Amino acid sequence: MKRSILLGLLAIGLLIAYVSLTSPDGSAGSITNEETVFPENVAQVLQVSCYDCHTTASKNTKAKEKLNFDTWNDLTAVQKIGKLDEICTEITKGSMPTEKYLSYYPDRKLTPDQIKMICKWVDEESGKLMGEKEE
Ligand code: HEC
Repeated sequence: MKRSILLGLLAIGLLIAYVSLTSPDGSAGSITNEETVFPENVAQVLQVSCYDCHTTASKNTKAKEKLNFDTWNDLTAVQKIGKLDEICTEITKGSMPTEKYLSYYPDRKLTPDQIKMICKWVDEESGKLMGEKEE
């Protein structure tokens, strides 16, 4: 008996939390799909180290199917958020650019500073897409 009262209270608590998180004033964030403007420093790194494979002109079909910077803004906000997360994950693991590519172009390997910079931008950009206020 006591247990079911506790469970009832828990359910009410969860309901209140849910309602306040999804309040219609949008303060808790609503997905917005603004056109992504790549900051200069980010764009430059992507151009040097990623564009050979991840653009429409690339012959690497597998790569551009997964991620194509030329058609980036055709993605939905949710897709962008997913890809942004993958970008930071892949470069942090050191899996992108691919090992084979780096054996030809070792100077296109991202430096720790570049990885930090891209991942910081990934966070900010995902935040914007999720409707978080800036500052
Ligand atoms: C030599 C070509 C090449 C370069 C350069 C390259 N990639 Fe890739 N990338 C690939 C291929 C091929 C795949 C698909 C791998 C697969 O399906 O197993 C891929 C997949 C990805 C994915 C998707 C992973 C997934 O599982 O869906 C991301 C994100 C990515 N690359 C990011 C980058 C970033 C960021 C850069 C630059 C820093 C980069 N790549 C540079 C070839 C490349």
